[in-house]
Amino acid sequence: MKRVSAILVLCSLTWGLVAASQAQMRITVQTGRPGAAIRPTMWGIFFEDINFGADGGLYAELVKNRSFEFPDGIMGWSRILREGSEGYIYIERYPQEQVNAHFLRMRVGKTGQGFGLSNEGFRGMGIREGKDYRFSVLARLTDGASMTLRVELVGGGNRKLAEAKLEGFGSQWDEYTVVMHAQATEPKAHLNLFVEGSGTLDLDMVSLFPVDTWKGRANGLRADLVQMLADLKPGFLRFPGGCIVEGRSLDVRYQWKTTIGDPAERKLIVNRWNTEFNHRLTPDYYQSFGLGFYEYFLLSEDIGAAPMPILNCGMACQFNTGELAPMDELGPYVQDALDLIEFANGPTNSEWGRKRAEMGHPEPFGLKLLGVGNEQWGPQYIERYKVFVKAIKDKYPDIQLIAGTGSDATIFPNGPQEIDYLWSQYRQLKAEIVDEHFYRRPDWFLDNTGFYDNYERGDSELFVGEYGAQSIGVASPDNRNNWHCALAEAAFMTGLERNADLVTMSCYAPLFCHVDGWQWKPDLIWFDNLRVFGTPNYYVQKLFSVHRGDRVLPVEVADAATAPNGKPRFYASSVYDETSNEMILKVVNATAEPVRATIEARGAKAVGLSANVTVLADDDLNSENSFETPKKVAPVDSRIPVRSAAFRYDFRPYSLTIIRLMCQTR
Ligand code: AHR
Repeated sequence: MKRVSAILVLCSLTWGLVAASQAQMRITVQTGRPGAAIRPTMWGIFFEDINFGADGGLYAELVKNRSFEFPDGIMGWSRILREGSEGYIYIERYPQEQVNAHFLRMRVGKTGQGFGLSNEGFRGMGIREGKDYRFSVLARLTDGASMTLRVELVGGGNRKLAEAKLEGFGSQWDEYTVVMHAQATEPKAHLNLFVEGSGTLDLDMVSLFPVDTWKGRANGLRADLVQMLADLKPGFLRFPGGCIVEGRSLDVRYQWKTTIGDPAERKLIVNRWNTEFNHRLTPDYYQSFGLGFYEYFLLSEDIGAAPMPILNCGMACQFNTGELAPMDELGPYVQDALDLIEFANGPTNSEWGRKRAEMGHPEPFGLKLLGVGNEQWGPQYIERYKVFVKAIKDKYPDIQLIAGTGSDATIFPNGPQEIDYLWSQYRQLKAEIVDEHFYRRPDWFLDNTGFYDNYERGDSELFVGEYGAQSIGVASPDNRNNWHCALAEAAFMTGLERNADLVTMSCYAPLFCHVDGWQWKPDLIWFDNLRVFGTPNYYVQKLFSVHRGDRVLPVEVADAATAPNGKPRFYASSVYDETSNEMILKVVNATAEPVRATIEARGAKAVGLSANVTVLADDDLNSENSFETPKKVAPVDSRIPVRSAAFRYDFRPYSLTIIRLMCQTR
């Protein structure tokens, strides 16, 4: 049966009958009065290299400190000096100045029962039985007739998972590669390199990648983690942060130009989350930039998300040094922004467009959005922001610029006044997009679903660029990704959707978290070296995104349940999907009781005979997902019959429900 025939044509009699029998809560959707357009960018994702999000996470490289550039050059490595072996292993410096300034020297006298070194990976290496792993290394033989490098992947109890040999090293630096086939699965393997023979062997860029990266790309990304992102159908990808953009001081700010080209030539710097929290020190956290700006653009394209780079604007993190680039030294920062636009969009005969083409992408990436700074505030920000706007708009009037409003108003010094000040400036400057952040307790999100209802409408669009309910407190190590937080975010998102005329983009933060390498909780997606699961918060984001729709429909909820503080605990928003001609209703019941409601598709000329219903629910607000029970809180689909444009539905306690009903309005 064709879908279009499964509809119910409505007459006034139907309305009369239904209306007369209603006594309980009523949700009225004005299907004939579509309002603001929902932008394709409405629900996006925020990526930052925090919690081992890039190195040790999305970036599939398994070797930590592969180029011996950590300040402690041997960090991540340990020497293997078994019985009877003699020799030295140490870090050397290239005689000439170069970005990647160090290499490893192994001077072997006797190999005895084993001479070499071992890499621990990022809290181990995830190795999967039956899969192939590509080992590569830059090497040269500086002394001795010939030497062999025996490469081993080893699991717990020294169980050998895979083995290979490399030989024939010459006296000049060259790359040597071998593919190893894993015989067993191990979540915390390590890599052993044994030298055989006597002489001196130099090594650099020691690398191990699964062959099965996302789309099988060399220097690629972890396929299972990218799939989680693709499944969100995100409208945009914000990268690379976050505070990581700012750096603790300007010398360690994120500079996109050092993150493109040959991965061996990308300049490693410290990761600012390395020692940010005393309760969670991660001294081995650096940025190799193997996942750099080219890879971010490619990822955006792969998952159908608009790329949204955020650039440093001459200000280091204001929670740290707050170092400022003097106004008369802002030129290089602004030039970086202009060059980035050329890198993303410029013709292949332009300087930066050519670099993009040389990396394998002659077509432009279609960059339209750019953030000027991250969580910046104060007059120092405004004066720098103005310089960026002028320079970028003069050359690229179509690029939309995002202005910051500092951090969450409740956590940065004088937050509310600072935000008022920034907004007063943005109104004068007619800022295009303004970014606001919310890291608050779940009850705040439940109480403030109307946050944007009465926000002044002017020239600026709103970007809710970071938010996440904090079960204990901002970035508390005890925060949980529980159903309470996720449900509160869902309620808040109904408010964002209702205000889509103002709020045109939003994203949860942070995105990824390595179970052994985190600094900040809560996070949307948790992973270890082999596995990944989505939190309840992930499924909330996914449901809003995959049921985005095209136009807001006005919704009234009569007799909604309230909390003792008088704030609602039952929420609804609706959109219309112009392709499928469906009304999409999103309802959050944040009470412990089931709620029976009559849903009225008012103004519909005809409705479907059944509706698709997706429910995300759990009776226990403390419920969480885990590696063992990854779908404890996960959406469940069903179909319900619909007998008229006003139909009854029982909303589960503590639930997010999405109802899609075919609905002709003309
Ligand atoms: O999401 C974690 C951090 O929170 C971001 O880096 C920063 O922008 C915010 O303060």
